[in-house]
Amino acid sequence: MLRRPRRNRQSAAIRAMVEETTLSVNDFIYPMFVMEGKNLTTEVKSMPDVFRYTLDKLLEELSVVQDLGIRSIALFPQLSEDKKDKFASESHRQGSLYLEAINQIKNKFPEIAIMSDVAMDPYSSDGHDGYVDENGNILNDETLQILGNMALAQARAGADIIGPSDMMDGRIGYLRETLDDEGYTNVSIMAYSAKYASAFYGPFRDALDSAPKFGDKKTYQMNPANSREALIEAELDYAEGADFLMVKPALAYLDIIKSLNDNFNIPIAAYNVSGEYAMVKAAAQNGWLDGTRTMVESLTSIKRAGAKVILTYFAKEYASLK
Ligand code: PBG
Repeated sequence: MLRRPRRNRQSAAIRAMVEETTLSVNDFIYPMFVMEGKNLTTEVKSMPDVFRYTLDKLLEELSVVQDLGIRSIALFPQLSEDKKDKFASESHRQGSLYLEAINQIKNKFPEIAIMSDVAMDPYSSDGHDGYVDENGNILNDETLQILGNMALAQARAGADIIGPSDMMDGRIGYLRETLDDEGYTNVSIMAYSAKYASAFYGPFRDALDSAPKFGDKKTYQMNPANSREALIEAELDYAEGADFLMVKPALAYLDIIKSLNDNFNIPIAAYNVSGEYAMVKAAAQNGWLDGTRTMVESLTSIKRAGAKVILTYFAKEYASLK
């Protein structure tokens, strides 16, 4: 036997030498949840070790997070029902919890990259990512205006990266133009390009109370059965000026990550979503899986598939390893 692949696996030193994929905390964006109130931290029931923080508590937690080497976060707001309306007005109201949070984080931790979320659902009384008309249709072009106001308010508050997660057509170009017109040419856009209508978002919607009040998101989020459509979405987002293309969820869509990475020369991101996190945690709590090893293997696989950037609730746990 001239070819013995096992020779390259025979010691830890050689295995490390030939290792192709190496994770770094630099790859991670840590999604975090901010809620109204003071001095409170509540665990998300379906996401062990993930918490919603009031702003004062979030700022404390960010010191810990930064000391662990995490340099980027994605922020999502949980709003009480009385703050929600059909137009997601709260999303661009000066002094809102979310804009105030971005502002204070930026002032206190200028070196942390803040990615904002652009979509109507946390602020919408309909629980949808877009504007809903009286017949229950999600209106695309009417939504763009709202998203534009939202993105602009977030840029003004200090967001470094705008993260449109809404899946409306044409929003990347619309947001790029809106930001540029106001002088925010340095604010990046990470497009949720291939965002699928997925069951894996369940725990996130629990965290934010953002589940749709009727229907589902299938007229804007993608059909899990399709891959060619992901290339169309990515081509549009690239052409419209996106700085990153994201695939979401990650683990059930590794083929999509690879396909985008093979076809585009800007960084590909993947969102290791709430349900993917919850599955590992639940199995680990039952003693059915080794949680740490499963986490590292999952994150490594997402990177191996072609994601340079990984949004993951595991960021803190990974950064705390060793
Ligand atoms: C919607 C949005 C979703 C997530 C982030 N922004 C899902 C959805 O309800 O469609 C999911 C993130 C996760 O599951 O971790 N704008």
